[in-house]
Amino acid sequence: MINYSSRVETLVSKMTLSEKIGQTFQAVSAAYGKNKIGCLTGPLNDEKISDDFIWQIGSVIDNTNFDCDYLKSIQEEYLKNSRLKIPLLFMSDAIHGYRTMCPIPLALACAFDEKPAFETASLTAKELRAAGIHIAFAPVLDICRDPRWGRITETPGEDPFIGSLMAKAYVKGFQGDSNNYFIEDNKVGSAIKHFAGYGFVAGGRDYDETDFSVNTLQNLILPPFKSAVDAGAMMVMTAFTCVGAVPCTNNKMLLNDILREQMQFKGTIISDYGSVGDVCGYGIAADPSGTVKTAVEAGCDIDMMSFHYPNELEKLIKNGAISESQLDKMVANVLTLKERIGLLDDPFKGICSAENKKYLGIENREISRSVSRKCPVLLKNENILPFSKKIKKIAVIGPMGENVSYVGAWSLFGGDDSVQLTEGIKNVVPNANILFEKGCDIEEDNAGLLSTAINLAKKADAVILALGEHWYRTGENNSRTNINLPLSQIKLAKEIMRVNKSVVATVFTGRPLILQELSDIVPAIMLCWFLGHETGNAVADLLFGDYEPTGRLAVSIPKSMGQIPVYYNRFKTSHFNEDGNTDVDWQTKYTDSSILPEYPFGFGLGYSDIEITDVQVEPVLKRFGTIKAVCNVKNTGKRKTTQVIQLYINDVVAEIAHPYKELKGIKKVELEPNQTKKVVFEISEELLKYYHLDGKIFADNGLFRIGIGKDSSVKMQAEFELI
Ligand code: BGC
Repeated sequence: MINYSSRVETLVSKMTLSEKIGQTFQAVSAAYGKNKIGCLTGPLNDEKISDDFIWQIGSVIDNTNFDCDYLKSIQEEYLKNSRLKIPLLFMSDAIHGYRTMCPIPLALACAFDEKPAFETASLTAKELRAAGIHIAFAPVLDICRDPRWGRITETPGEDPFIGSLMAKAYVKGFQGDSNNYFIEDNKVGSAIKHFAGYGFVAGGRDYDETDFSVNTLQNLILPPFKSAVDAGAMMVMTAFTCVGAVPCTNNKMLLNDILREQMQFKGTIISDYGSVGDVCGYGIAADPSGTVKTAVEAGCDIDMMSFHYPNELEKLIKNGAISESQLDKMVANVLTLKERIGLLDDPFKGICSAENKKYLGIENREISRSVSRKCPVLLKNENILPFSKKIKKIAVIGPMGENVSYVGAWSLFGGDDSVQLTEGIKNVVPNANILFEKGCDIEEDNAGLLSTAINLAKKADAVILALGEHWYRTGENNSRTNINLPLSQIKLAKEIMRVNKSVVATVFTGRPLILQELSDIVPAIMLCWFLGHETGNAVADLLFGDYEPTGRLAVSIPKSMGQIPVYYNRFKTSHFNEDGNTDVDWQTKYTDSSILPEYPFGFGLGYSDIEITDVQVEPVLKRFGTIKAVCNVKNTGKRKTTQVIQLYINDVVAEIAHPYKELKGIKKVELEPNQTKKVVFEISEELLKYYHLDGKIFADNGLFRIGIGKDSSVKMQAEFELI
């Protein structure tokens, strides 16, 4: 039951049926025509939307420009024409930045820390609001185990603990304090998406079928959404895909029973682009009126661009198939959003031409750079990094070194003028001689380029290979069957290694690429991801040791295509093979490869090494109490270090099959050389809860094992009992 303000209730009571339907439809901003506001253009005309109705539409998806004066003029014109003067809401996709681009969400998840996600969302909110946008279609909270899916780039990776951490941080960053009814002028509403399970598309094929168990839904897919709802997320966007063979937008069990009842979500539900019509695509409804009926009954408040609400709702209400009181609730949910954003008091709240221009400035670039340094993951380092700043001649070789965009998918308004790797290196070591050769194209050999690159490598004191995948290989509509690092680049790495041994490979990508071959060739690899506008600077900050890499993998890196999906939190099964060996019989295995990934979840190196000893846990946890798990961490290397210590737990006897290990705690610890520190984790019953067969969430009495380590390959070392 949602309580609406009296202002919202009064407004609903004054509205005509057509005005109410208008509030439940979202159009593209192009509908208002850049130069001829109020004249229908493009798709709205084709869909028989009338000239009058355009002044009744409730919200706009602005994917066309970031010109706040233009958005302001749309609002002004709209208010002149709207009978009740209820302002339009503007929404936009701002997945990892709006004008200042920050790391792709998968990279942000690798920070293993909520702060970078919070800072990215705060910065994005400021820029959106100044531009006149009120809602960010973000964050993407889809847990994903399949790097073939191009949208893995937008996700927090494979783990619900990291996903939940990220979810809360993003929502707080976008919206501010959840206890306030009205959000601040420099904040926006957050539309969490895609509810739910989109990351499980079969074969990693975008938009394809999804089919998973209730356990997977409740215990793996939903926790990040629950965390975001608890943090106060104002909107939820449905997924294109199905849960229990019913499209999410039309899924009453999902939207009502789970989202509204179980999670107690009080905000507004919007469909994905055109997805109110999905049931027709799935062959479940014969015509749009059927799809509208089920979407409304499920609780989808806003139809984004399917046109079925405006075209069908009136008929369905007049013939009694849908009650007007149901429509009133949908409208009240939309108006509440407008009220909370402050639009009912001031339709232009937050919009600011001067601020909007300012936001391309240096301050936000600095934030982007500092956030970006936290995300790269050092995968291999045989005494190569950090490079000394005294190195005289540095060769940057590879197709990702210059003239590339590192912003990643979903940079709609930020442009792609990211700091190039060569430029970043020049900024960090201005006295060095830095020379660049491409060596090959991203996906093709080039004999001429290769031979000049080899000549350069021969003369250099150190080589930074710049490898990876073009940004447009990831994002929506970009699934791939081959995610190996392209052969042209493997060949380049081999040839360069022949003439110079002081080589690090930097890998720029939006998804986990298969790096097995590269790992066999080069002595050092830094997985840089796409970090947004400050990519070159942030990577150089790490390569030359001004900062230490503290990123850890939020997603496993497979050894081969055949291993996909490979993830750390697999069930303990009857024929469980913990070490993944091939030479065991009657256990889960491949006969031609280990079942373990090339680099496991949680993995990442720093510039010093550590030793973890004396792992202990208090033996008995009483319900509602807490116990401590501890270990000693010693810096065994020569540099000061920041390390990411991880706690994994296994529920030894659960009601349902359970992951052998689940990440349940992260601690960052700073250590001087030779220093030892005690690291303490608190374990409460809360951490051990999961959804049982009866749909209830609680923790089992009995035995639990813990492991504290540097990544998910840690062995379980101690145990406690919950009584
Ligand atoms: C995507 C959403 C996005 C929407 C609006 C859809 O195709 O799935 O993530 O928010 O478009 O741009």
